[in-house]
Formats: sequence, C-alpha cells, structure tokens
Amino acid sequence: MAKIRKAVFPVAGLGTRFLPATKASPKEMLPVVDKPLIQYAAEEAEAGGAEHLIFITGRHKRSIEDHFDKAYELEMELKEAGKDKLLKMVQNVLPERVDCIFLRQAEALGLGHAVLCAKPVVGNEPFAIILADDLIRNDDGPGVVAQMAAVYERTGASVLSVQEVPPEETDKYGIVATEEQPDGTLRVVSIVEKPKPADAPSNLAVVGRYLLTPTIFDKLEQTTPGAGGEIQLTDAIAALLKEEPVIAYPFAGKRYDCGSKQGYLEATVEYALAHPELGASFRAYLKGLAL
Ligand code: UTP
Repeated sequence: MAKIRKAVFPVAGLGTRFLPATKASPKEMLPVVDKPLIQYAAEEAEAGGAEHLIFITGRHKRSIEDHFDKAYELEMELKEAGKDKLLKMVQNVLPERVDCIFLRQAEALGLGHAVLCAKPVVGNEPFAIILADDLIRNDDGPGVVAQMAAVYERTGASVLSVQEVPPEETDKYGIVATEEQPDGTLRVVSIVEKPKPADAPSNLAVVGRYLLTPTIFDKLEQTTPGAGGEIQLTDAIAALLKEEPVIAYPFAGKRYDCGSKQGYLEATVEYALAHPELGASFRAYLKGLAL
C-alpha cells in the first residue's frame, strides 16, 4: 500500500468567526501558548509520515511562508547573544527532510476548491488534509494523522476522522451514516453537510483530518458549487463513497475547535497547564483567580 507522503493544509479561509484577529493574518497563525496552530498541524503531519507539506494560501500568505522559512537575521542575533536554546527552537520549526510548497487559492471558493488547487502537486497518490484550526491532542499515543495512516495502510480506503457531537450541533459539521464491517471498521454509507438535527443521519461528525485517495480530485472537478456558492469537499466525498470504500475513524485524542473563540481559549488554558515550563505557575495563577 502506498505510504502517505503528502499533506495538504487549506489555509485560505476568511476566518470570519475570529474577526478582527483574522482581518490581516490567517487564523492558522493564532498561537496556542507559544506555537501557531499551523505548526502543531505540520508537526502532526510529519509525525504521520508526511514529507511534503502543501499549503493552500489566500491573501495573507506571507506570515505562514515566513514561519516555515529560514529567519537569517533572527538566527544571527540569537547566535551572537548566545541564546542557543531559542536558536534551536527557531531552526527546528520543521525537520530537514520535510519540504514546504505554497500554492495560491485566488478566491475563497470553498474547502473543496482549496483541496482541488493541490491536485498538480499531489498527483496520483493518497494524501492527508489537515484543517489546522482543529487542534487535536493525544498525549497517550500517536497523533491523528499517524493513526489514520495506519488505518489506510491496513485497508487501502479513504479515511475520515469522526467524533460524536451533541445532536443539537449537527448543523456545524459534515455528518456521516456508517455501517460496521466484520473487522470493526465503520464504512461510510452517506455524508451530508451541516444537516439540521432533525435531518441528521447520526451525530457522528467529520472533523479536520481527512486521508483521501486521488480519486477525490475527479470528484471535486465534477462538483458544482453548493451551499453559499462554495465547492464543498463533503459533496465530493459523497460522490467518492459511491465508488470506493470510505472509512469513518473515531480518533484517539481531544479536539479543540480553535476556529471558535471558546475552543481557542479552552486549548490555550489546557496547553498552558500541560506546558513543561509554564504549567505549574499558570495552575497557581488560575487557582488564585478563585472564580
Ligand atoms: P471554515 O469553514 O472554517 O471557514 O473552513 P473559514 O473561512 O476558515 O472560517 P469561518 O468559519 O469563516 O470562521 C474550513 C477550512 O477550509 C479552509 C479554511 O482555511 C479552513 O482551514 N478554506 C475554506 C480554504 O482554504 N479556502 C476556502 O475557500 C474556504
């Protein structure tokens, strides 16, 4: 089975839920404690085997490109000041074997359209898609991309990461109906984008990790704009699962919706509490607030 070597990061959305913070900078550059969301996502992809990171950027591409680029002046200053620990941190944003490719989505025509922009670089191999604003922490084992890559290597099928959500929240997600297979995997039989609770086939929601075969590109090319005039990835997946098996994978880990202010704040507090240097003092601070 082909290995997952490529990961696509669609970062061209407008981030309207987080305005004004996202007016001049992509939401994926929002930091959780000391790293931007996009770096957590890149590290997770790399840990899952990705060697080529493909960013689909929009109008604020500079900050993301700069983040993964070499920062000569900063490195020189840190070196001269003898700040070796900081220097290593800045130099090792990504391991050397990984390369970054930046593609432009000229107009925000939807997640499906953003993914289609990656076709010339992904070519004819399976690939991961990571939405960096879904931050997922799994302290007890591998990250979600690695978990999904293991499922792909076992089955050869496309894999969607899923999570149960409160039934009243189905209209925020793509929702799947599944059928359990003899080997315990959940095969997706249908998928709908943001159904009202009364129309939802289940409360199993797709979150921001996908592992797809390249057939998805054919399906995206045939997808016409759906809700809000956008080309929806969900519609293309609905077409894909008529032809190929697609598996819903309930991942191990805790997810924070960092595209929302509440989720972002929860992530910030919990990552700060778990931070090796800040954890103890931040815990004491929170206790002192005596809410
Ligand atoms: P969202 O649905 O979260 O939209 O996009 P958004 O614009 O980023 O945020 P809100 O809802 O307005 O606050 C899902 C993912 O798809 C990317 C986004 O960057 C995000 O990672 N996306 C969306 C694109 O890259 N291009 C698009 O045209 C739309």
